[in-house]
Amino acid sequence: MWLYLAVLVGLYYLLRWYRERQVVSLLQDKFVFITGCDSGFGNLLARQLHLRGLRVLDACLTVQGAEQLKGQTSDRLETVILDVTKTESITAATKWVKEHARDRGVWGLVNKADISMPTAPSEWLTEQNFMKILDVNLLGVIEVTLSLLPLVRKARGRDVNISSVGPGVSLWWELLHVQVQC
Ligand SMILES: NC(=O)c1ccc[n+]([C@@H]2O[C@H](COP(=O)([O-])OP(=O)(O)OC[C@H]3O[C@@H](n4cnc5c(N)ncnc54)[C@H](OP(=O)(O)O)[C@@H]3O)[C@@H](O)[C@H]2O)c1
Ligand SMILES: *[C@@H]1O[C@H](CO)[C@@H](O)[C@H](O)[C@H]1NC(C)=O
Repeated sequence: MWLYLAVLVGLYYLLRWYRERQVVSLLQDKFVFITGCDSGFGNLLARQLHLRGLRVLDACLTVQGAEQLKGQTSDRLETVILDVTKTESITAATKWVKEHARDRGVWGLVNKADISMPTAPSEWLTEQNFMKILDVNLLGVIEVTLSLLPLVRKARGRDVNISSVGPGVSLWWELLHVQVQC
């Protein structure tokens, strides 16, 4: 019994050691698409991955954001303008990604475009505030993912969704309020 247990634990550590030793090779051939690159985590990630030699395809909301990022990097990083709340913008960005990545596909898709909840008492907020959050932080992520999924599959890539707990907590707090009042 103890012997089996020791063997199992040994196997587990062996497997872990093996997995941790794996490194990704040929970074210069891998394309990563990141949304929300104008500022914050998306911007930082774009610059970090560019430094590590990956091919970075960056989606910025504004022209200024895109130009600033391009000015700080090299031609291994390319930018496109994307508003994740607009279907035609997502379609155009997907076409652009396809033209760049071609048969390599997208090895990494990072959904980072998001907005935070306005910090204000509930009475000051409108339904529009909530709809905007859902539009960018939820529906935007879903639509971008669905649109790029064939390219991600092609590269047997990965998808990473980054968002704040802030809007979620605020929405939950509102729901709780409504329930308490009912
Ligand atoms: N940074 C921190 O230390 C920290 C700590 C705790 C929690 N958080 C939360 O984590 C979240 C992300 O933080 P962050 O610093 O990376 O935020 P951020 O700088 O606001 O990044 C979000 C990015 O998404 C872009 N974006 C907004 N709407 C878009 C749309 N419709 N389509 C495409 N892109 C759009 C924004 O562009 P524009 O800039 O042009 O609007 C911005 O570049 C925030 O919600 C924040 O509250 C951040
Ligand atoms: C990211 O969000 C998309 C759209 O909701 C979803 O299909 C995908 O599974 C999510 N990815 C992860 C790693 O949670």
